[in-house]
Amino acid sequence: MGTALVTGATSGLGLEFAWQLAQARHNLILVARTSERLREVAEEMRQFAGVQVEVLRADLSQRDELELVAERLRDPNKPVGLLVNNAGFGLGQPFVGGDLAPEEQALDVMVRAVMVASHAAAGAMVRRGRGAILNVSSIAAHTAVGTYAAHKAWVLRFTEVLAVELAGSGVTATALCPGLVHTGFHAAAGIDETQWKESLWLDAERVVSDGLAAVRRGQVICTPSLGYRCGNAVLRLAPRWLVRRMAEDPERSRRQPE
Ligand SMILES: NC(=O)c1ccc[n+]([C@@H]2O[C@H](COP(=O)([O-])OP(=O)(O)OC[C@H]3O[C@@H](n4cnc5c(N)ncnc54)[C@H](OP(=O)(O)O)[C@@H]3O)[C@@H](O)[C@H]2O)c1
Repeated sequence: MGTALVTGATSGLGLEFAWQLAQARHNLILVARTSERLREVAEEMRQFAGVQVEVLRADLSQRDELELVAERLRDPNKPVGLLVNNAGFGLGQPFVGGDLAPEEQALDVMVRAVMVASHAAAGAMVRRGRGAILNVSSIAAHTAVGTYAAHKAWVLRFTEVLAVELAGSGVTATALCPGLVHTGFHAAAGIDETQWKESLWLDAERVVSDGLAAVRRGQVICTPSLGYRCGNAVLRLAPRWLVRRMAEDPERSRRQPE
């Protein structure tokens, strides 16, 4: 695959993607907002994995900065073989009564940036007749828990559409749907991790290696771990009223006026 571009590569799953790809001898382009952290990670990867690493500082919620990523993906002289659309964050607030600014930012990062980067990468890859796009969705895509569920449902369905359009082109599209993973995600959103029992948590290393194996197989949807695959099957078979009921916050129902 040559060079891989990973968004959100300074922490959590993105950092793990970068390490596993570097260990598999891919050169890397690391994208995130924090320049210092990008430089540190790049330097470690050059030293310990001996691969070439470019850093591209960009806030993916800003259209002009996102365009820098798209331009890099389109560059015919420096082909990118794998795009990992990984950057994302939790909102940790209800939509009704919550702030609108983070809602808009979430759409920009987890929906618009995925679309723009995929458009740039798919065009360039199809012209070369090879390449792969991996979009990080979530098991939340099948639920009705917060607007995050809607963003990740978009990523999942969009990836399926991409896979259909790309069939026979030599380029593949894969959606990765992890369950809970200990990363910086929950702390950044002010979400208490202790509300879920430890057996529900997945290991970032395993989630990423399953995702990369799915890319190698050209698999369209990958849900790491048997437990989450069973949960996913239940969510898909359950009537939607039950899925909505499961997402209800009993505290909120108690607070509602009669
Ligand atoms: N952790 C879980 O339980 C879980 C489960 C299912 C799916 N996911 C998904 O997995 C993906 C990775 O999340 P994670 O758990 O690894 O979270 P994380 O540890 O918080 O990492 C998020 C990464 O995204 C970058 N990022 C955030 N906002 C950005 C922006 N506006 N522009 C550019 N980069 C940005 C961050 O870097 P900077 O702050 O430097 O920009 C960081 O590198 C997300 O799409 C998330 O929705 C996570």
